[in-house]
Amino acid sequence: MIMEEKTNNVAIDGPAGTGKSTVSKLLAKKLGFLMFDTGATYRAVSYGCIECKTDLTDEAACTEIARKVTVEINKESGEQRVFFDGKDCTPYIRSPEVTKAVSQVATKPAVRSVMVNLQKATTACGGFVAEGRDIGTVVFPNAKCKFYLDASLEIRTQRRLKQMQEDATYQLSSSSTPKEPTEKEIADLRETIALRDEADKKRAVGPLVAAPDAIVIDTGSFTIDQTVEELYKICVTKLDIKSE
Ligand code: CDP
Repeated sequence: MIMEEKTNNVAIDGPAGTGKSTVSKLLAKKLGFLMFDTGATYRAVSYGCIECKTDLTDEAACTEIARKVTVEINKESGEQRVFFDGKDCTPYIRSPEVTKAVSQVATKPAVRSVMVNLQKATTACGGFVAEGRDIGTVVFPNAKCKFYLDASLEIRTQRRLKQMQEDATYQLSSSSTPKEPTEKEIADLRETIALRDEADKKRAVGPLVAAPDAIVIDTGSFTIDQTVEELYKICVTKLDIKSE
């Protein structure tokens, strides 16, 4: 069955550390929409591959894993959970091992096709702010509101460090307890982000790129609140919503 895409979904794309998830969460709340972190679905595939000791170069095997990933977004609380083979793997998807494997898994066209179908089905009723890499280009090609958030590598590294220090699910190494990062850890993190950006931008299917009709915002010069306010104003106009 082909579903008509609802044009009131909001697309937010951009590289790691641009504040996409925080901005998406706050924007969704302000609009009375639900937020969808699509990266979590690719992370769940990556988690499944690690659990099943799947060869990450084997596209067919990774795709079988992808078919066992499901997602739930609670309509009341907005909380999102991802499952692999019925098991809630949400607490494990931000581990360094999963992060390392995810770009490789996300490069595979057949895996992406399964994920894009899952993402489209999840948001079919409209009223979602979804963030990822190919939302404006592939998942919501007809959305009226598309944004591409960017910032320099240095700013993004600093933001991700802060996130790691504040959120126990983001850790510098699998065994680490929260502590001040060393220079080497910061340099490694910067390199990991740069490599992941490059892999995301270079892949043939669903690469990280601003949709031609996306509004590009450099979040390096804005606070989170200013960014949300800017996006909100545009959404209100484009979606013809009554402002708060
Ligand atoms: O939060 P962070 O920026 O670290 O990444 P994420 O949004 O959790 O996404 C993790 C990875 O999933 C990305 O580096 C991409 O390789 C992949 N991804 C994708 O290919 N397409 C999406 N729509 C979302 C994520």
